Amino acid sequence: MKKVILTGDRPTGRLHIGHYVGSLKRRVELQNSNEFDEIYIMIADSQALTDNAENPEKVRENILQVALDYLACGIDPNKTTILVQSSIPALCELNMYYLNLVTVARLQRNPTVKNEIKMRDFEATIPVGFFTYPISQAADITAFNATTIPVGDDQLPMIEQTQEIVHKFNSIYGETLTLPKACLPDDESCFRLVGTDGKAKMSKSLNNCIYLSDDTNTVRQKVMSMYTDKNHLRIEDKGNTKDNPVFIYLSCFAKDEHFAKYLPEYHNLQEMKEHYERGGLGDIKCKKFLFAVLEDVLTPIRERRKYYEDRLDEVYNILLNGSKKANEVANKTLEKVKKAMKIDYFSDSSFIQEMKNKFSTNK
Ligand code: TRP
Repeated sequence: MKKVILTGDRPTGRLHIGHYVGSLKRRVELQNSNEFDEIYIMIADSQALTDNAENPEKVRENILQVALDYLACGIDPNKTTILVQSSIPALCELNMYYLNLVTVARLQRNPTVKNEIKMRDFEATIPVGFFTYPISQAADITAFNATTIPVGDDQLPMIEQTQEIVHKFNSIYGETLTLPKACLPDDESCFRLVGTDGKAKMSKSLNNCIYLSDDTNTVRQKVMSMYTDKNHLRIEDKGNTKDNPVFIYLSCFAKDEHFAKYLPEYHNLQEMKEHYERGGLGDIKCKKFLFAVLEDVLTPIRERRKYYEDRLDEVYNILLNGSKKANEVANKTLEKVKKAMKIDYFSDSSFIQEMKNKFSTNK
């Protein structure tokens, strides 16, 4: 069986370092492993519209922002097909048929949807399209026969829901759809990176993000004003590294080479953590080190972003060609689905004969 990756992001803003450690970095590694036959990344604008119907400008503006973030991180359009969801009509048709395979009760149990409804204060005013987006996401995934979905852990319920739809479809209509599997980051603290305020997941609406496209001064200012351990008041105080966002970020980003380069008094993060925990290591020093590490990671990303920002026509063509290719694949899946469901009347040469036989036996 072919090994196929599919992932996506809603274009509601620029991508941040939480996206990077939670999924983007993994996608680039998987892309460069050359172990996959096909790789698709979707700019999920239709999904973004499910709770932004009054805000089409926001979605429109962020199509290129997200594409630039992908390219900046090392997504290579020669290896990975980047596509725009709304330009693939087959996804809507698949969604239409999958809607019949899922109950309202099942959607209400989806923990990610539950949480998103709460965060947006939706309750009964939830748009129907938003409520059913896990089903349209199943269409995204199955349209490309994806086997591997590199995502953060908040997307696990979506993959589970897709698996159920695949099982149900295949058991009713015969083996047609491919069963996908999620692929999480190795390091658990990266699943859902905390914001710079240490309170919740990094999220644009909470204003606690470091964006991949932030410039050096912005990153410095954001890092230097990060929360740490609120009980670590003096340098000599014992410190907590566990719920401390500075140390959480270090565990996601700092490699031993960074210590050799910027903080040679420690060999690795473990030694630095031990010092902080027993007292004697100040927050400012930790933040300065984190800033140096982040700059090390973000500088090449920023440079590649600049390269493509100066070539927006090229980016536009990458999306256009990616979407064209994606349409071919999704249309094939739709054809297979309609055939399995026996609603492919006009490409089924036996249809009319079968009906004629029925009419004559009924006579
Ligand atoms: N729901 C994802 C998010 O909020 C975006 C998305 C849309 C997606 N379709 C997908 C992710 C298919 C993985 C696979 O970021």
